[in-house]
Amino acid sequence: MILVTGANGQLGQCFQQLATDFPQMKFLFAASSDLDIGDRAAVKRFFAQHSIQCCINCAAYTAVDKAESEPVQAKRINVSGVKNLASACAALHIPLVHFSTDYVYHSHQNLPFREEDAVSPKGVYARTKLQGERAAQKAHPSGTMIIRTSWVYSIFGQNFVKTMLRLGAERPGLSVVFDQIGTPTYAPDLAEAVLGIVDRTMRGDLNQEALAGIWHYSNEGVTSWYDFAQAIFEIRQLPCKVQPIESKAYPTPAQRPPFSVLNKAKIKTQLGIAIPHWRESLVRCLNMLDR
Ligand SMILES: NC(=O)c1ccc[n+]([C@@H]2O[C@H](COP(=O)([O-])OP(=O)(O)OC[C@H]3O[C@@H](n4cnc5c(N)ncnc54)[C@H](OP(=O)(O)O)[C@@H]3O)[C@@H](O)[C@H]2O)c1
Repeated sequence: MILVTGANGQLGQCFQQLATDFPQMKFLFAASSDLDIGDRAAVKRFFAQHSIQCCINCAAYTAVDKAESEPVQAKRINVSGVKNLASACAALHIPLVHFSTDYVYHSHQNLPFREEDAVSPKGVYARTKLQGERAAQKAHPSGTMIIRTSWVYSIFGQNFVKTMLRLGAERPGLSVVFDQIGTPTYAPDLAEAVLGIVDRTMRGDLNQEALAGIWHYSNEGVTSWYDFAQAIFEIRQLPCKVQPIESKAYPTPAQRPPFSVLNKAKIKTQLGIAIPHWRESLVRCLNMLDR
């Protein structure tokens, strides 16, 4: 059985939707009400009650700005919760797939980040996500696959694409920052890549040790939030005019990295993952929202 934690979040729902494409795998989807990953005893009990062969952790504290005033809650989920899952997986010698963020990077580098590049998280969310990576690797060094991803969106939950569609329909114009550069990730693309990897691992085509470590995944290409908004309105043919603004004109409690493009060479070459361009995936998402 493949356990998916945080199953009612944005990425968790994408795993639920894709599960039917992988009938050879049995899934156990656990929402936060089924399993609180921050509760160590509950995690132990849950793993003892079910026959789990792999855990995909979609549970996280993801409110980037709110985390500045809720550091204890963010740490409980992003650090202790992840450690609890990693310890439970280590005891059973099964793989843990965990998601982290491009926000662990923060420098004025303008070349895509490789997994081994120096990290410099700013803010509570980014720091707790990095601490969570480290806690998981310490508890389960040979079986933790950490996938750092960026700018995640889908038809589920709250995300930039859905916010832009709502505001774009309500307003004649919008200001969006053009000095934060990165790459969007269509969550179903990420979920599909992960399920392919887990399937190969369950069938013995990949061994658990080969997955251990840090990996990058986002869609291909590079953009700014301004260009991303522009593309959404262009494809949807919304007349909303987008105005580029600097981040300093839109202050937020937590700082975002000015450049966080991820280099995906490792996952593409070592695991043979094919990644669509962000614009192509954006069209697929907008078509899904039209249905
Ligand atoms: N969204 C992005 O742009 C982005 C970018 C980079 C990396 N990531 C990473 O990608 C992963 C998935 O993100 P997402 O966008 O799917 O986040 P999300 O929509 O906020 O989902 C997170 C889920 O975690 C659950 N959760 C919170 N506390 C929990 C607990 N103590 N025990 C169990 N579940 C708990 C939440 O449930 P409740 O709603 O019931 O609390 C929610 O369903 C996260 O690790 C995130 O850090 C996201």
